[in-house]
Amino acid sequence: MSSLFWLEQRIALVTGASRGLGFAVAEALAAHGAHVLVNARTTESAQRAAAQLKGLGYAAEALAFDVTDAVATLEAIEKIREVHGRLDILVNNAGIQHRAPLPDWTDGDFERVIQANLVACFRLAREAARVMLDRGFGRIINIGSAVGFLARPTIHAYAAAKAGLHGLTRSLAAELGPRGVLVNAVAPGFFATDMNEALLGDPEFRTWVERRTPVGRWGRPHELGGAVVFLASDAATYVNGAIICVDGGLTATM
Ligand SMILES: NC(=O)c1ccc[n+]([C@@H]2O[C@H](COP(=O)([O-])OP(=O)(O)OC[C@H]3O[C@@H](n4cnc5c(N)ncnc54)[C@H](OP(=O)(O)O)[C@@H]3O)[C@@H](O)[C@H]2O)c1
Repeated sequence: MSSLFWLEQRIALVTGASRGLGFAVAEALAAHGAHVLVNARTTESAQRAAAQLKGLGYAAEALAFDVTDAVATLEAIEKIREVHGRLDILVNNAGIQHRAPLPDWTDGDFERVIQANLVACFRLAREAARVMLDRGFGRIINIGSAVGFLARPTIHAYAAAKAGLHGLTRSLAAELGPRGVLVNAVAPGFFATDMNEALLGDPEFRTWVERRTPVGRWGRPHELGGAVVFLASDAATYVNGAIICVDGGLTATM
C-alpha cells in the first residue's frame, strides 16, 4: 500500500461509530493502519463494533460516552491522553435527526439536535485540539452534510446545525492550521443508514433521490471512508478548511 495513505501509529477517535457511516469510517481508518477508538453511547454497542473490527485483524477499542455530556466528553479525552499520550485524528460523526412540520417543533427538539450535531462537535474539537496542539499535529474531520448547503422541509435544526458545522470547520481551520492541526469536513449526500430509515421506507422519496443524484443511486456507507482516510493522511497535508462533498454529484447539480 502507498505510504501516502498509511495511518499506522495514528490514534483516531470516531464518534458514533457503532453503525452506519461512523462504523464505515472507523473500518476504513483501521484498514489503513490507524488504532481506532470506537465511540457510541453505550459500552455494549461500542464494544460490539470494536470487536467486529478486531475480528478483521484491525486495531480497535471501545470508548463509550454520550457526546452531548460535557463531563463525560472531557473525561474521555483525558483518558485518551493518559492511555495513549496522543490523539492524532478526531472524526466528529455522531449525529441525530428530527423531522416534523414547523408548528410541531418545540424549542427542546431544536436544542437537542443542535447540541448533538453542533455543540458536541465544537466541544470535542476544542478538547482534542488541546491534546493535538501539545504535539503540533492533528486532523479534525467533521461529518457535515449536503443539507449544510441545500435545504429540505421539516429538518430545521439539522440544516442549521450542519451549516453551522461547515462554518465551524472553517474557523477552526483558520486558527489551528498554523499550529499543525488541519480541520476539514466531509459532506455526504443521501446514504442508506438507520438515520434515513423513514426516507428509505417511502418508495416515492427513494426514487426521487435516485433521480436527483447524478450517479443514480443512494450512497453506500463504505463509500464515505475514502474521503476521510484521505483527509487524515499525509496525502492531505495542504488541505485545510475544505468541505468535500461525497454525494454522487447531488450538490453540483439542479
Ligand atoms: N445517512 C446519511 O444520508 C447522512 C447524510 C449526511 C450526513 N450524515 C451524517 O453522518 C453522520 C452519521 O450518520 P448515520 O446516517 O450513520 O447515522 P445513524 O445510522 O443514525 O448512526 C448514528 C451513530 O451516532 C451514534 N450516536 C447518536 N447519538 C450519539 C451521542 N449522543 N453520543 C455518541 N454517539 C451517538 C449512534 O450510536 P448509538 O446509538 O449506538 O449510541 C450511531 O453509531 C451524522 O452526523 C449524520 O448527520 C448522514
